[in-house]
Amino acid sequence: MITRPLTGKRIVITAGPTLEPIDPVRFLSNRSSGKQGYAIAQTLANAGADVILVSGPTALDVPEGVQRIDVESARDMLHAVESALPADVFIAVAAVADWRPAEVSSRKLKGEKTARAAIELVENPDILKTIAHLGARRPRLVIGFAAETHDVEAEAAAKRKRKGCDWILANDVSGDVMGGDANAALLITEEQSEHWPRAPKGEIAQRLTDRIARLFSTPASC
Ligand code: CTP
Repeated sequence: MITRPLTGKRIVITAGPTLEPIDPVRFLSNRSSGKQGYAIAQTLANAGADVILVSGPTALDVPEGVQRIDVESARDMLHAVESALPADVFIAVAAVADWRPAEVSSRKLKGEKTARAAIELVENPDILKTIAHLGARRPRLVIGFAAETHDVEAEAAAKRKRKGCDWILANDVSGDVMGGDANAALLITEEQSEHWPRAPKGEIAQRLTDRIARLFSTPASC
């Protein structure tokens, strides 16, 4: 028998990189493949959830049964997430650019014969932190991701508090993670830290889906 424990639950998830324009042909971005976020969207949909995937540019197909909203910049991503609420769960997997160019030139910037050039940057909104502090519109469960190279547990626990989210799934990125197919992870909740051995991104996604389903199956916590 197929069990679909998340039937009736609405889940919004961000994935992929953001792309911050400099001029009509150039942008700032990062190497996020979107694979982990897409894998989570797929396992959540398989578990019966109504999944809205707000995605930066990736080379990936829309997971089956998932509604994808395509965005480019961090500000567009935040707007799309807010428009997709209310939801029971929000999961921030996207590698959001922390900064964007202060001004976007409407004309292609011309190379000038100077030894140095500078682009002024301003801070992007923190999507995870914003959604975690929404008050009455806050999803019941807010999950963030953390990429750490050292002191993974302490850094990720501090990040959970700083961002105001309920859980953090921390990746040890001292090996190959960005664009790779496997992750070692640590799930940090208010009560505990759970070590998950290195596993393909599909398995990490299934574990996270199972944990979410378990939370929602506990009557007192829903
Ligand atoms: N995040 C977000 N909006 C941002 C920046 C990050 O929603 N503007 C989310 C990411 O989707 C992820 C978590 O916040 O869930 C990662 O937090 P971040 O502070 O960017 O941590 P790292 O990427 O681990 O980097 P650092 O430790 O350098 O802060």
